Amino acid sequence: MFRKDFVWGVASSAYQVEGRDKNDGAGTCIWDTFTEEGRTFEHHNAYVSADDMHRYKEDYALMRELGVKAYRFSVSWARLMPEGTGRVNEKAVALYRDMILEMKKNGIEPYMTLYHWELPQALEDKGGWLNEEIIDWFAEYAKVVAENFTDICDKIFTLNEPQCFIGLGYYRGIHAPGKKVTPEESFRIAHNALRAHGKAVITLRKYAKQPIQIGYAPTSGVAYPASNSPEDIEAAKKVYFGFYNDVDNWTWNVSWYSDPVILGHYPKEGLEKYKEYLPEITKEDMELIHQPIDFYGQNIYNGYPVRAGADGEPEFVDRPAGFPKTAAEWPVTPECLYWAGKFLYERYQLPIYITENGMSCHDNVEADGSVHDANRIQFLDEYLGNLQKAADEGVEIAGYFLWTFLDNFEWHEGYSERFGIIYVDYATQQRYVKDSAFWYKKVMESNGAVL
Ligand code: NOJ
Repeated sequence: MFRKDFVWGVASSAYQVEGRDKNDGAGTCIWDTFTEEGRTFEHHNAYVSADDMHRYKEDYALMRELGVKAYRFSVSWARLMPEGTGRVNEKAVALYRDMILEMKKNGIEPYMTLYHWELPQALEDKGGWLNEEIIDWFAEYAKVVAENFTDICDKIFTLNEPQCFIGLGYYRGIHAPGKKVTPEESFRIAHNALRAHGKAVITLRKYAKQPIQIGYAPTSGVAYPASNSPEDIEAAKKVYFGFYNDVDNWTWNVSWYSDPVILGHYPKEGLEKYKEYLPEITKEDMELIHQPIDFYGQNIYNGYPVRAGADGEPEFVDRPAGFPKTAAEWPVTPECLYWAGKFLYERYQLPIYITENGMSCHDNVEADGSVHDANRIQFLDEYLGNLQKAADEGVEIAGYFLWTFLDNFEWHEGYSERFGIIYVDYATQQRYVKDSAFWYKKVMESNGAVL
């Protein structure tokens, strides 16, 4: 059973749903530049997207109707601070305050994310996450957020998926800013991001208008055991937190991003494996990164099976022929939520929120306005069932944020993926409630009893 105060929510991010109406004086961010350069699927951009910055009142009312109790959203750094530092855009402050108050009016608890990938372009021009001054830039932004919003929003996540914005944005170059840095530079970026997280935590607590709760939302592909044998379980755990990737794929690591934050040190194995690429790491750095946080988020979509080989060492197992996939071609592996819950809780001992989980489907609106997304319901049912099993076995699972409420701009995939439980017709901005949203309502209402 999920605990009585389990947080049922939906998640989104500013850039993906808001629309880029800059009449309020918002600054340019790296995703504006990236889309202007035509580097997304069919040159899609997020100028309008789901137009949520003009439609949030209706959208939050719809959330309420559907029983949503918590909303993980993000604020745009470049909208709030057009140059990234210095001047604060008061109109953006007013917009986000109104959004938060509107959530609360609808009985929805706001969970804010500070950084969901839209770095102000002015800061990227100075080197972005590669420039260690970003630790202070991000702290300045955190101060602005603390001073302007913490009287009405007391739950804040610092970084969303550092693995992705570093791996896809700076290392592989398929996300903004589209750079292809060297391995050494990628480790410097990660070290900067972790220190920026730490300084933001200190700053948020210092300037908050009331005691606040702070979390962190990294991601992972989950290594899960191919069977329930203790050997396979050990092997999967070893891979999940270990260093089996070559340096070209190192950014998809779990422990590199979470051990320093929660345990106060980089994992030994990683320090050893990647030693030739690492920047100088000081004791002061580690103290800065290791700030107490209140909860631990993980965005989880899928995993891969692992077993113990004859020599006891982990082996990657092929998935069976014809295994199910999402529209985004991601494998459907519900057991990953059970195993991630177990493994993460055992290692980090913090209440866990699944800060994102969901499915991209080929959705269609029927003549009567209905959207029958049976695949998504099955996906969520199985994933949530697995999460519940972990909770039953004593893992402290505190909440679940479904990705996502409205269909939206899926980064370099543009609008070609639909992850929403609400269908958005981008030409008319009409919303259509998918079957999965009605189903999720029952799940939330019954605290998971219908799963
Ligand atoms: C992770 C990201 O945080 C979110 O922005 C993205 O849309 C979803 N996963 C789906 O890819």
